[in-house]
Amino acid sequence: MGHRVLLVGMGAREHAVAWKLRQSPLVDELFIAPGNAGTSRLGTNLAVQPKDIEGLVKAAKEQRIDFYLATMDDPQPLGLVDRLTAEGILCYGPTQAAARLESSKAWSKEFMVAHGIRTAAARTFSDYREACRYVESLGDRPVVVKSSGLAAGKGVIVCNNGHEALQALDIAMVRRDFGSAGDTVLIEQRLYGWETSCHAFCDGKIAVMMPFSSDYKRAGDGDTGLNTGGMGAYSPSAGVTPEMAAAVQREVVEPTLEGMAAAGTPYCGTLYPGLMVTEDGVSVIEYNARFGDPETQALIVRLESDLFEVCRAAAEGKLDQVDVRWSDQASVGVVMASAGYPATYKLGYIIRGLEDIDPDVQVFHAGTKDDARGIVTSGGRVLTVVASGPTIAAARTRAYDNVRRISFTDAFYRKDIAAGL
Ligand code: AMP
Ligand code: GLY
Repeated sequence: MGHRVLLVGMGAREHAVAWKLRQSPLVDELFIAPGNAGTSRLGTNLAVQPKDIEGLVKAAKEQRIDFYLATMDDPQPLGLVDRLTAEGILCYGPTQAAARLESSKAWSKEFMVAHGIRTAAARTFSDYREACRYVESLGDRPVVVKSSGLAAGKGVIVCNNGHEALQALDIAMVRRDFGSAGDTVLIEQRLYGWETSCHAFCDGKIAVMMPFSSDYKRAGDGDTGLNTGGMGAYSPSAGVTPEMAAAVQREVVEPTLEGMAAAGTPYCGTLYPGLMVTEDGVSVIEYNARFGDPETQALIVRLESDLFEVCRAAAEGKLDQVDVRWSDQASVGVVMASAGYPATYKLGYIIRGLEDIDPDVQVFHAGTKDDARGIVTSGGRVLTVVASGPTIAAARTRAYDNVRRISFTDAFYRKDIAAGL
């Protein structure tokens, strides 16, 4: 009998995963809570929000779901995997305790230090005045001020000097812009280099690495403007050599899994360490205990194996028994957003041109919904257009060629995703 699978989230990442799961003969029914217009064409959207754990457990029982595949960050630190497991539902995703790798930056920093995983030196503070005194003692050494808790991807402030660091402490600890996430902050040495995203399937004991990918966090071309959830991604990541990938597996991913297992909180699910490649080597910037968005959109089109089979094997602790194959093709994903994102923007504009897309190019929906006029915008990031090709340059040309066929009022996108590679 086929499986009844639950996804939680409403991004293009969830649409991409749903699209891939739909190709699995092992999946009978897909449920996406709350989903978007894209996911509604692949399964059943459930009107439950990602942090509503009681609502998700209830819906899972009502819909006789037998597998949960974690993609986004919100539900796991609230214990969704623990609750569903108690109901006898197989889960690919971290327990509440294992999700601390992402949900507490203070905890994960201690973990990295304890296990010799290279990361920027940092100190943790819960007292504002002590934090200020520490910043003052550093003079003008550049630091990064990080709210320890989950802050919807916002709680990190990269500072150029002591003055900016004091302002950052004020924002996090006095104004409390990130709420309780900023009750504890890390003051971390600022690293210089280039970033890449590592993703790995994990079964609690072993990991299978995915290809590396790169995302673009700033809203504007040339990495200008505000930080966003991500404006585009491509894979493979330029500059990551096979030696570097092997070193990351050996020095970051494997020690992480060993450390988590030794602590009695084995890590099952997708592990996504964000990395900075510096002159001294590769450093972990942060752990994410989930799939990246928009990296997933670029990765998923390169996965040749059955995603459900891989995740089920991982959930059963049998990742060594599956073969995970990837295409040699490169992929590029360009996010189309609503003007004003990530600040304020208008919603409800008709999206045109979706039927003009090349058949082998994917449009993964994020902020979209159906109304009487058709599919309309309903969020900041509206969709991701993903194309493949023999090279990044070829994939990029095709992605932008298709992006230009889609239009809606106030549409904007970066013109330089995967440019110059
Ligand atoms: P996050 O919001 O946690 O995904 O991280 C935000 C961004 O802050 C990262 O992608 C990096 O560009 C930057 N960042 C975080 N930590 C450091 C660091 N120690 N040195 C330099 N940049 C950093
Ligand atoms: N691509 C950034 C993130 O998913 O956090």
